[in-house]
Amino acid sequence: MKKLDVLCVTLLNLNILVKPVDRGVFDRDATLVSNYNVVVGGDGTNQAVTLSRLGHSVGVCGSIGEDHFGHLAMELLHERAIDTVQVAVNPQAQTAVCLVMIGPDGERNFIVKRGACDSFTLADIDQDLCTRAKILNIGSVFTFKKLFGNDLAALLRNAQQHGIITSADAMYDSYGIGAENMLPVLQHLDYFLPSYDEAKYLTREDDPERMADKLLSYGVKNVVIKLGASGCLLKNARVQMLQPAFLAPVVDTTGAGDNFIAGFLHGVLNGWDERRCLLAASATASISIGAIGATGAVQSADQMLQWLWEKQNIIL
Ligand SMILES: Nc1ncnc2c1ncn2[C@@H]1O[C@H](COP(=O)(O)OP(=O)(O)OP(=O)(O)O)[C@@H](O)[C@H]1O
Ligand SMILES: [Mg+2]
Repeated sequence: MKKLDVLCVTLLNLNILVKPVDRGVFDRDATLVSNYNVVVGGDGTNQAVTLSRLGHSVGVCGSIGEDHFGHLAMELLHERAIDTVQVAVNPQAQTAVCLVMIGPDGERNFIVKRGACDSFTLADIDQDLCTRAKILNIGSVFTFKKLFGNDLAALLRNAQQHGIITSADAMYDSYGIGAENMLPVLQHLDYFLPSYDEAKYLTREDDPERMADKLLSYGVKNVVIKLGASGCLLKNARVQMLQPAFLAPVVDTTGAGDNFIAGFLHGVLNGWDERRCLLAASATASISIGAIGATGAVQSADQMLQWLWEKQNIIL
């Protein structure tokens, strides 16, 4: 079986975007919308789509239901050339769905059913298959209700023992898993790229440098804390560096973090040093916020390199 560049363990859902939906939606019988769009989404799915556009072979590992939306999600993944060998089908659960209501001013509200993702466990993953990627990337720690702590740590440890690079983003702890239950996971991460709020939750610190130190002390090899429009901070045993964001007109910041991760892993796959990885990550994120949706804007590695040269005078 072909070796993938990246396997993303991820929430797999169908996003149905409708607009415009105003606040009076419950005051009338029906709200007529002018646009709708159906896309496959989820933290690591977005990362996989952008990594694929940047030229890498990628797969997703997650769970769907045995239903029409599950079939559609698979079809959309195949259209984007994403490997789905590791997608588990759970006949007892529904495919996760997210209804994205977009207001007239671009504001968004999400109605989410996590469905099959809620019952996804370590037992659904073929760990041997996970060793056929160069990078095993966890779309986010805290995504899965039943995959965290020692189970997630075991998955990552097995990958590391096979010489695979491990990485992860984080998300809001919506299941109340608790920071302490994620500590076993952190020691098996070569790269951990949480946002400021997520790093604060995990470390109980509010200064990015102290957050990074604490995460390093938990065993992460390279910490990258995403700081929104203020950029990011990278720290490992050798270096500490800040990378300002490339400020660009903002159309929609949805997925900025996912595109940042994809750009960063693109650098890791190319063997680039820390600064070049951060430049690629920041450029990919900046391009993504220039268009609606998490995966609409980034088209190719050449586009990203050209953007860096034309908009920032940087040759990568
Ligand atoms: N307004 C902005 N202008 C330019 N770049 C931005 C802006 N917001 C975010 N970015 C870029 O995207 C990166 C990731 O953004 P952020 O820190 O918001 O991550 P996140 O919270 O994980 O995002 P998400 O909401 O997608 O989960 C930042 O480090 C920065 O490079
Ligand atoms: Mg994020």
